[in-house]
Amino acid sequence: MALTITAAVVVGLAAVAHAGDLSTPTPTPTPSPEAPWPDFAMPPYNGTGPTLLRFGCHQVVVDRIDPLVNPGSIPSPHQHQIVGGDAFNASMPVSDISELSTCTTCSYSDDFSNYWTSNLYFRARNGSYKRVPQIPNRLFFDDEFTTKTNGGMVAYYVSPGKGEVKAFEPGFRMFFGDAALRSEPQGQWNLSTQTCFRCYSGPDFQGDDLAPCQDPAVDTQHLPNGPCHGIRTNVIFPTCWDGKNLDSADHTSHIAYPVEGPHVFDGIGTADTCPDSHPVKIPQVMFEIVWDTTAFNDPNEWPEDGSQPFVLSTGDRSGYSQHADYVFGWKGDALQRAMDAGCIAANCPGIATQAVEEAAKCRVPEVVDENYEGWLDTLPGNPPQPSATTST
Ligand SMILES: *[C@@H]1O[C@H](CO)[C@@H](O)[C@H](O)[C@H]1NC(C)=O
Ligand SMILES: *[C@@H]1O[C@H](CO)[C@@H](O)[C@H](O)[C@H]1NC(C)=O
Ligand SMILES: *[C@@H]1O[C@H](CO)[C@@H](O)[C@H](O)[C@H]1NC(C)=O
Ligand SMILES: *[C@@H]1O[C@H](CO)[C@@H](O)[C@H](O)[C@H]1NC(C)=O
Repeated sequence: MALTITAAVVVGLAAVAHAGDLSTPTPTPTPSPEAPWPDFAMPPYNGTGPTLLRFGCHQVVVDRIDPLVNPGSIPSPHQHQIVGGDAFNASMPVSDISELSTCTTCSYSDDFSNYWTSNLYFRARNGSYKRVPQIPNRLFFDDEFTTKTNGGMVAYYVSPGKGEVKAFEPGFRMFFGDAALRSEPQGQWNLSTQTCFRCYSGPDFQGDDLAPCQDPAVDTQHLPNGPCHGIRTNVIFPTCWDGKNLDSADHTSHIAYPVEGPHVFDGIGTADTCPDSHPVKIPQVMFEIVWDTTAFNDPNEWPEDGSQPFVLSTGDRSGYSQHADYVFGWKGDALQRAMDAGCIAANCPGIATQAVEEAAKCRVPEVVDENYEGWLDTLPGNPPQPSATTST
């Protein structure tokens, strides 16, 4: 029950109206942020209960560097899109990043964290590649900023209530995923609720009806097999921390899933029981990126073997290599205060914000000088693309 209710929180509500009507797009009603979910009891986010931060960040740079996995490598093996503070660089010290940044592209102006993921490219029949544009997200909770970003993405942080999670400490960083994966992972946990691609069924975010990675009608852990009215990806980080290490050699061993397994994204919870090895509950962090694929839906440009034409900048045509990098950089105790504020989206009492135009001014210069827009002969860095598709 709780899941149903909270799914509605993060869901696109316009969607309720046309759920089940995936094949015949109809004009999309604009979701009203005022009274979005008449059929659902929303958690109140009234200052005493859960917090759900949801806020947009412009692109700060697109570059082929990776200070977490390949520190100091110029270039790194594959390309990323990066948002957040302007201290982003090929290597970043394990220290307070908020002190090194002078600006951030995020709407919360005390959030100098960096968030980055791989990019999506289209491969035409002639073998040329073109980067798929990242576009702003839909309107929720009156948050206009998020609908006006230049590329970029949306970041989410969840806490079940005041004092329930411990905000990250200066220098903290973490990684989710496996850039080498090309088929469904057979690990300890089924991660299909933690990383997915959502295939919009119509214009204006249609099909966005349920919480991320929880709608089998539109969500897959691999890249969608058929054409979509845009693709969204979500990546959710583990919610327990060892309480000691700001980082680890593989950038993941210092974090862990709860003993019950990965926590679905429900907008109110993080971990139920953290394992003894990783006893500290941390905020549930989720990245959300929307790509406009509509310019790439000409069937004559799709592979003749019936496979789908999109490829991650890792060289992965399956999508299973989707991964995400996070370097914490909130100033002072701002994230802890936000997690304890019982607030919603991009409006959290006492947590500073900035105008979308101001955030857009924050940029990081590109370090690797290479062309990545327009039609390209190879992906940036030309990563190997073993055995095309493995999606099922
Ligand atoms: C705020 O929400 C909590 C549940 O999270 C509820 O118990 C409480 O009564 C609400 N307070 C107000 C003033 O609405
Ligand atoms: C990135 O690091 C280089 C030295 O490695 C430095 O010259 C440059 O100013 C740094 N850029 C930023 C944006 O901090
Ligand atoms: C490859 O195909 C695309 C899409 O039709 C076209 O725009 C591009 O110019 C072609 N590239 C080359 C090198 O012919
Ligand atoms: C993971 O769960 C999804 C959804 O229930 C299912 O389709 C998939 O087969 C599962 N994968 C594995 C490896 O068990």
